[in-house]
Amino acid sequence: MTVPATAPVGELLAQLTLEEKVMLVEGYQSWRTYPVPRLGIRSLYLTDGPHGVRKVRTAGSGFDIADNEPSTAFPTSATLASTWDPELAFLMGQALARESRALGVDVLLAPGVNIKRSPLCGRNFEYYSEDPLVSGVFGSAFVRGVQSGGVGTALKHFAANSNEDYRFAGDSVVDERALREIYLRAFERVVTDARPHTVMCSYNRLNGVFAAQHRELLTDILRRQWGFDGLVMTDWGATHDRVTDIAAGCDLDMPGAVLHNRDRVRDAVRTGELPETTLDLAVGRVLQLVGRYDEPEQTAYCGAEVHGALAERIATEGAVLLANDGTLPLGAASGQLLVIGELFARMRFQGSGSSLITPPEVVSPQDAFARRGVEHDYVVGYRAMRPERDSVLEREALAAADNAETVLFFGGLTDLDESEGFDRRHLRLPDNQLALLEALIARGARVVLVLFAGAPVELPFADRLAAVLDMYLPGMRGGEATAALLFGEANPSGRLAESWTRDVAQTSAAADFGGGVVARYAESIYVGYRYYDAAGTDIAYSFGHGLSYTTFAYSDPTVSVVDDRVTATVQVANTGDRDGAEVVQLYVRNAPSEVFKAHKELRAFAKVVVPAGGAATVTLEFALADLAYWDVGVHDWVLEGGEYELLFAASASDVRVRVPLPVRGRTVSRSPYPSDVDQAYARPPVGIPDEFALLLGRPVPEQPGTGRLTLDTRLADARRSFVGGIVYRAVVGLVERRYRTAVAMPDSLDRDSRVKNTHFVWRMMPSNTLRSMVMSSSGRLSYDVAAGIAFLAAGHPVRALSSFIRRSHTVSTKEVP
Ligand code: BGC
Repeated sequence: MTVPATAPVGELLAQLTLEEKVMLVEGYQSWRTYPVPRLGIRSLYLTDGPHGVRKVRTAGSGFDIADNEPSTAFPTSATLASTWDPELAFLMGQALARESRALGVDVLLAPGVNIKRSPLCGRNFEYYSEDPLVSGVFGSAFVRGVQSGGVGTALKHFAANSNEDYRFAGDSVVDERALREIYLRAFERVVTDARPHTVMCSYNRLNGVFAAQHRELLTDILRRQWGFDGLVMTDWGATHDRVTDIAAGCDLDMPGAVLHNRDRVRDAVRTGELPETTLDLAVGRVLQLVGRYDEPEQTAYCGAEVHGALAERIATEGAVLLANDGTLPLGAASGQLLVIGELFARMRFQGSGSSLITPPEVVSPQDAFARRGVEHDYVVGYRAMRPERDSVLEREALAAADNAETVLFFGGLTDLDESEGFDRRHLRLPDNQLALLEALIARGARVVLVLFAGAPVELPFADRLAAVLDMYLPGMRGGEATAALLFGEANPSGRLAESWTRDVAQTSAAADFGGGVVARYAESIYVGYRYYDAAGTDIAYSFGHGLSYTTFAYSDPTVSVVDDRVTATVQVANTGDRDGAEVVQLYVRNAPSEVFKAHKELRAFAKVVVPAGGAATVTLEFALADLAYWDVGVHDWVLEGGEYELLFAASASDVRVRVPLPVRGRTVSRSPYPSDVDQAYARPPVGIPDEFALLLGRPVPEQPGTGRLTLDTRLADARRSFVGGIVYRAVVGLVERRYRTAVAMPDSLDRDSRVKNTHFVWRMMPSNTLRSMVMSSSGRLSYDVAAGIAFLAAGHPVRALSSFIRRSHTVSTKEVP
């Protein structure tokens, strides 16, 4: 008798053979779950995310991220969060669900809610904010939007995945409180508010344990404490030992097809190492997920007009006017316009890596200027995908600038500077852009800088620019949004969801970021504005900052507390002569405490449209419980009583009106920390204080340093060893050659796209480990070969040989160095 897939999970489980169960907990054909046709269990399709649906055209196309079905390229998460309007995340989620269904996709691998610990993280464009409230609210709205359309989401990358250079092998060393208050908080909010169907665990270790094997994270916290009832999958290749993973609560291994894993799980069940009931829990969650969705019917690209318009709206509302001396909006008084910069014609609208979308059209600023019939001159000035300076182009641009009244410089980061897979080393603009900009400024040109970048850049000359409009990465219609803002058809209303420091040295993670495999989160809870606020750092642009073509005044704050919910109101008047939107940010100043805390923390925000000369009452709400801190003495949230204060602000450094908030809560007469920690952390630490170990409650792990190649060392870290060097040269050398070949091609769109894609792989490869390469290879690289290499490197040639010639896969992970 066969049981249809709609049957209860228990009945299906009873029908499955062990072999089928073992297959069901691993991926199939890179992007699918395993089908069991005899039981009517279909295969689900899972794909990226988050700013469009990236469905590869050719299954098994490996690392080729560019051969995708057409789909709408929405602005990236950094832009979305800068709108400060979560409704837009909901609408974008709905649109993505429609496109997912049309493309036959069941689960979208999104959203990413990791905290932007440092602006250097190459993947920040895919994340929302340095603040857990903003990240959590946007993540929740996105998940609700996608899931309301009958498509699942994968909340990622769980957890404390804050860099790219060390993502496969890194260990994020985070104290319990920072983990709860900062790094897990956004995940918690999304899980409890929006109930994502799946969670994707990250590659890295968290406090010594790989996320995929982290029982406390995946079972105790996620399921028991937060009530998550969905499926946990690995990031692509994040598996270390499937048996330990499954026992820890990691259900699905993606992309799967690693025979070694299958053998490991089957054998572990047979020997009793893994109870079948534990495997059944994982299988049951896969079956439950399969049962959630009707099979989507594939149709042609369905986004065209409506989704394009939504992408444009998000781009318009997410752009941040960082500075303006009145030059913007452009009008008759702007005089002769000169446009400089290749990004004008070849706008950078998205980031590189797994989120890369192939849109049906791209509207550049040049297209949008043409549609408007804007009179302007255009000189290229620099080439985006050729970072070296070009004196001919520079001279041409400088000569043209001598005759222009206003120069619009289109600049920003390129895919060679920021991407998934590697981190930035500095915050500067590319050298060729910087040199030209500085020369233009030195000649006294009136320069408006229009930026396309997924993250902050250093602008040491900002006060000599007429204006800075940051479009972030605005999606495929970004050019329209840019033109509308420059010419005043739209009024800028985006606000920064991250702080912009003046340089790297000012950043809150500066003491540690990029320092090695062991990432020491010694700044603890002092992340982003929580740090700069309390340290009094004079940064460039504060969290929440953004200008408008009008001005707003705040007055008449009120507060009431009913049933443990705080409701606050404030009047916002538009005191200028243009309609505009203001983002009201409600920070709460913490009451004096024995426990170290940030000075103030964002607790609510709202975006409100106010007509010129008009006013609006803005209501903001939050739960009193949100004011609690994580107490490491009782391992729980504690709401401390005292005199708090509500701060209604236009940015973290621009508080407009305030009102006291007395809170009745617990009296905390003693800090749960040793007094040395209290002292060291009374202010944000500079460097890595010795007390960090006390805060952690254990010694800070040493950096492993470089050395011999094992399954879990980064190729870059083993390159000086004999075997490591051979592997490094073979693997990295190959992808580097591909990159160099692309670079040598004559100028064309095809060249740029090849440079971009080969560069991504080349820069990411040295951070890979043998294990991550096996696990993400969908069976192309055998575990036995990787294990053999590791045995060779460890000086065990006989074991290496037997591993090389083994066709079955019985080597236990624990035996391999
Ligand atoms: C990324 C994930 C992505 C997956 C599949 C991984 O390398 O970290 O975010 O969903 O690949 O493309």
